Amino acid sequence: MKPKTGNYQENIHLADFEAAYRKKLIQNSSVADYGRESESLGGQWNFCIDQYDTCLRAKWFEEKDADEDGRPYPLDYSFDDWETIRVPSCWNTEMEKLFLYEGTIIYTRTFSYSNRGEGRVFLKFGGANYQAAVFVNKMYMGMHLGGSTPFCVEVTGVLKEENRILIAVNNTRRRTNVPCDNTDWFNYGGIYRSVTLLRLPPTFIRNLKIGLVPDGGLCKISAEMIVDGASDGKAELSIPELGVKAGIDIKNGRGATIINAKPELWSTDNPKLYDVKATFGSDTLTDRVGFREIRVDGQDIKLNGKSIFLKGISAHEESVLNGKSVTEAEIRENIKLAKEMNCNFMRLAHYPHSEEAARIADEMGMLLWEEIPVYWAIEFGNPDVYRDAENQLTELIARDYNRASVIIWSVGNENEDTDERLSFMGSLTEKARELDPARLITAACLVDLHELVIDDRLVEYVDIIGINEYYGWYEPDFSRLPRIFINSSPQKPVVISEFGADAKAGFHGASDEMFTEEFQLDVYERQIETLAQIPCVRGISPWILFEFRCPRRAHFMQNYYNRKGLLSTDKTQKKLAFYAMKEFYSKM
Ligand code: GCU
Repeated sequence: MKPKTGNYQENIHLADFEAAYRKKLIQNSSVADYGRESESLGGQWNFCIDQYDTCLRAKWFEEKDADEDGRPYPLDYSFDDWETIRVPSCWNTEMEKLFLYEGTIIYTRTFSYSNRGEGRVFLKFGGANYQAAVFVNKMYMGMHLGGSTPFCVEVTGVLKEENRILIAVNNTRRRTNVPCDNTDWFNYGGIYRSVTLLRLPPTFIRNLKIGLVPDGGLCKISAEMIVDGASDGKAELSIPELGVKAGIDIKNGRGATIINAKPELWSTDNPKLYDVKATFGSDTLTDRVGFREIRVDGQDIKLNGKSIFLKGISAHEESVLNGKSVTEAEIRENIKLAKEMNCNFMRLAHYPHSEEAARIADEMGMLLWEEIPVYWAIEFGNPDVYRDAENQLTELIARDYNRASVIIWSVGNENEDTDERLSFMGSLTEKARELDPARLITAACLVDLHELVIDDRLVEYVDIIGINEYYGWYEPDFSRLPRIFINSSPQKPVVISEFGADAKAGFHGASDEMFTEEFQLDVYERQIETLAQIPCVRGISPWILFEFRCPRRAHFMQNYYNRKGLLSTDKTQKKLAFYAMKEFYSKM
């Protein structure tokens, strides 16, 4: 520590003011809340644009308005007189003046609380991009890193009749973040998913993981339960429609069981869901779960034992109106559009979408690839960066483990094949398998465009090889595409996780004129014709369902949008290539 001189003033002389806050990270903290009674803290919150992080430097959250002798202290903040912003929302789409703002926004509100007999109280955040330092009644609760996964803070004994919550959300792109400072999508910021208050008994079920045992028998259900606040006891799991009522012994807060049952299997044609109820003491947790099995068999992908081709499309989590804070209606619209294209599969790129997305996919019957944003040039040699990535993976799997629609966890996208990256992402694949042996692990890899071969060493660690290739757009010579697979003969299923081309919706012309819909159609037709002849290709998720905001795209035809969408930004216009994919998938 630097020796403090006589005139040291921490709020202006401590350069690395964040270090102390980062010592208390909120990780893998979420509490399963589906079906639980919860109170929304959403609405109009006071906020200020804190470009210099003065709140964290000068500790505004302590609300020190007088010195030791009680003399009033000049304040640089006035929480309840600040202007307000809607929570949840992305500040970029919520206020014109914040559209391009990258930095810290301080959110605060007061709320009343009275105990209704609950033993424990939690605040739950669905997602805040990128880092969130949480304070309740002047107490620092911790910092969450990662812009797309839920987190909880326990406020038992902290809440009073009148309470103040204050959150410093900073969406600055950083070299050491996951994703890092360079991506091909818009950097939204804010508390953009729900904030709720959860009242729980002294001992409660923190998480329930349930699913079909992936042994090919389709007649065994495994259930694991984590109980918080007790070490031993007896839990119960019931699935009334299956006549299942099983006891689970809880030891040191954990318990698991295998139940013999023959559920009606979930599939995209028959998205059958069962009501599941878990009880422990006075706590009840419910869920709606589909039972299905996903496995690879040589170069094949099998859903419930039957070979399946993943007829897919990629999608970002975005709408023109709401940015990343998409509504349930917008999620349903995206899945409906994918179904209209005869898809059975969507790649939710490049980060965990909202938990509603997987729940709605469960209901509507759509298979999903979910992904953590280990994207492009992550600082793979940095252990703190690995811990951040691994925590985001852990939080994603804890959140969506029970979702039948999710069949694939992807640990990243288009990363250079270095030793550090292999160690980093190889460890992530092992972590994913440890947390969830019942799903397939993948990553979107790059091929060696010079040697025309799949030689990414990460291939050894995954179940499905994701390949992004842009023949017809970035790579002009299509004849090279089939040679990649002749030269590689992969022993695992391949999913072409991206191909595509830009086109401005409504711009028509010759098929050799870039940015016309005809050009994009020509690329799609040649891609389809080529890929249909490669046996190890067992899935396709072209890039991308709809156009999306992207600061890297400054051509006048793009105007800061990536135009590879098969639909326009507002999804009102379908391009010619949409129909080519629709027809191709209908014939499969
Ligand atoms: C890459 C990347 C995408 C990007 C796309 C493009 O493959 O994975 O995130 O948007 O190509 O260049 O449009």
